[in-house]
Amino acid sequence: MKLGLFLQGGGHHIAAWRDPGVAVDGPQSLAHYVETARIAERARFDLLFNADTQATFGPDDIDVWKRTTGALRLEPLTLLGALAAVTTHIGLVSTATTTYNEPYHVARFFASLDQLSGGRVGWNLVTSAAAAEAYNFSRDAHAAHADRYERAAEFAEVVLGLWDSWEDDAIVADKERGLYFDPAKLHHLNHKGKYFSVRGPLTVKRSPQGRPVIVQAGQSEAGRELAAATAEIIFTVQQDLGDARDFYADVKRRAVACGRSRDDIKIMPGVMPVVGSTMAEAEAKHEKLQALIHPELGVKTLSAFFGMELSSFPLDGPLPEAPLANTEQGRQKVIRDLARREGLSIRQVAQRVTGVRGHRVLCGTPQSIADSLEHWYRSGAADGFNIMPATFPAELHDFVDYVIPELQKRKLFRTEYEGTTLRANLGLPMPVNRWAATTTA
Ligand SMILES: Cc1cc2nc3c(=O)[nH]c(=O)nc-3n(C[C@H](O)[C@H](O)[C@H](O)COP(=O)(O)O)c2cc1C
Repeated sequence: MKLGLFLQGGGHHIAAWRDPGVAVDGPQSLAHYVETARIAERARFDLLFNADTQATFGPDDIDVWKRTTGALRLEPLTLLGALAAVTTHIGLVSTATTTYNEPYHVARFFASLDQLSGGRVGWNLVTSAAAAEAYNFSRDAHAAHADRYERAAEFAEVVLGLWDSWEDDAIVADKERGLYFDPAKLHHLNHKGKYFSVRGPLTVKRSPQGRPVIVQAGQSEAGRELAAATAEIIFTVQQDLGDARDFYADVKRRAVACGRSRDDIKIMPGVMPVVGSTMAEAEAKHEKLQALIHPELGVKTLSAFFGMELSSFPLDGPLPEAPLANTEQGRQKVIRDLARREGLSIRQVAQRVTGVRGHRVLCGTPQSIADSLEHWYRSGAADGFNIMPATFPAELHDFVDYVIPELQKRKLFRTEYEGTTLRANLGLPMPVNRWAATTTA
């Protein structure tokens, strides 16, 4: 079972920052992240995941964000660079959007961090959930979903190409002959496409793990297609075991159709565990956090997910039928399906999903939480989980001290790292440089 630790300021619960045990400077404090990374590495997590949006809020949704810490975000590669220096084995995964970046930048940032960390980096390729990013990048509006994915596919092609610029043995460093690298093993990409024109090569040599691991977190039709072709990890938001199994089977089938192996993609749903010595204690801990959610927050947060103002509809009635908005379609569908399945009103859906953005909440004892993770893992719904502690560091400690030993006792989770690169620890194959066959033939 693979385990990621999803970083998020003082905790994944939207009201975590109001918990008396949570430091209010968590979202932007180096000490907080260093402590978190060290706890995670001691526990043998596969990776740390840092999500990102390059905008605080749009003109209309400041009322959502003023009640949360969500408007504060450090630039992720800067943060992960600092964490690379204080860790040795744990993977370092960050989001970078294909909608508001250039591929050369992204290829170079991640390749550099991969060098400096000894091959521990992953790139979460997203097309941007937050429409407000457009206003920080000289655009008047967020590009349409389909156009964002078309650009993303070409973007990924360019980044992958740039990461093959240098063959593994390109650097000869022959001091006697005065030859630093073999020019036959350095390649120009010369890409010319609809969105990008990139000559290359990259200024960073080949990574110790071949190239950074490609991660994705889209669940729309277009997201699944791109993931099947390129992703090696998929983070998902899933509530229901049946839906999770369908998604898992669907994406693995698509990957095989793209000529890949089922094992080349690790699917990791997000889970917020709340651990207690009894079920009642765990539920009480969760209830305490739920009670800290400001009353204004619920429906407004839900409105932000759906890109429409829901407070103008009867709150005790159902979610209005509407086409999926131009943001993150996978999450909208998961929330809509939950509401339909359980016949929930707008107010009830808001109560259920505001706490942790639609992710699954797992309240229980270490044994019952391990049972549930094991059940999803063994029934073809997940290769692992993206763990989202409700509060840092208290809930992280509880997961590490009580749930991980239970998973280890069941031989579901490692007690030692298998290797020093993210790829080795995930059991992913080492990619072959596209030019290797041409120059060694
Ligand atoms: C666990 C998880 C993490 C995500 N992280 C980000 C992120 O950091 N930044 C972002 O813009 N979108 C993020 N997303 C949203 C989508 O991955 C992203 O916007 C995608 O390109 C569009 O999603 P869709 O295919 O479901 O419409 C995340 C989604 C999930 C489930």
